[in-house]
Amino acid sequence: MIRRATEADWEKVRNLRLRALADTPQAFARSVDEEGAYPDDVWRERLGPDSATFIEETDDALTAMVTVFVERSDRTAEVFGMFVDPSVRRRGTGRALLATAEEWAVGEGARLLALEVNENLEPAVTLYTCSGYSPTGSRRVFRHDGAVAAEMTKPVSR
Ligand SMILES: CC(C)(COP(=O)(O)OP(=O)(O)OC[C@H]1O[C@@H](n2cnc3c(N)ncnc32)[C@H](O)[C@@H]1OP(=O)(O)O)[C@@H](O)C(=O)NCCC(=O)NCCS
Repeated sequence: MIRRATEADWEKVRNLRLRALADTPQAFARSVDEEGAYPDDVWRERLGPDSATFIEETDDALTAMVTVFVERSDRTAEVFGMFVDPSVRRRGTGRALLATAEEWAVGEGARLLALEVNENLEPAVTLYTCSGYSPTGSRRVFRHDGAVAAEMTKPVSR
């Protein structure tokens, strides 16, 4: 089941996020050591009202997550932190999670969805391309190891 995480889920979300950072470090800007040292309040605040984290939950275990934040000044929604546990990949979870996040962002007034993806991560780039995202041509080094993230966007309307 996919649902929006609440502050009460913070420990489960932290554990999944740390699993994500350990599993696919090249997908994320910060390391498992950096985020593993965050105090509990940071994890609770991440689930506050300013953004929405959607999770897939199976028998009380979290198997996937994504977060979306709507920048109201330009009606752009930033999608980030996408992760699906390796044990359940390639079953449509990533696509469904993304669609849920997009629907929420549109409901919040977003007109453009934006994300950054390590251009070497073929599964992620393919997921976003199949879901209607196109590269803008903007690229930047986003990790200490020099990995490059490409910006991709998708216009949306109600
Ligand atoms: C990228 C990721 C989220 C995809 O999750 P998923 O649940 O396996 O994806 P889905 O099953 O919804 O796949 C949707 C489409 O994406 C593409 N895709 C997904 N995994 C793929 C792979 N390993 N190789 C090629 N294409 C892939 C396919 O087009 C797929 O559609 P299809 O199965 O009908 O062919 C997952 O592999 C993951 O968590 N990777 C590590 C973290 C990461 O890279 N996060 C992105 C940060 S920007």
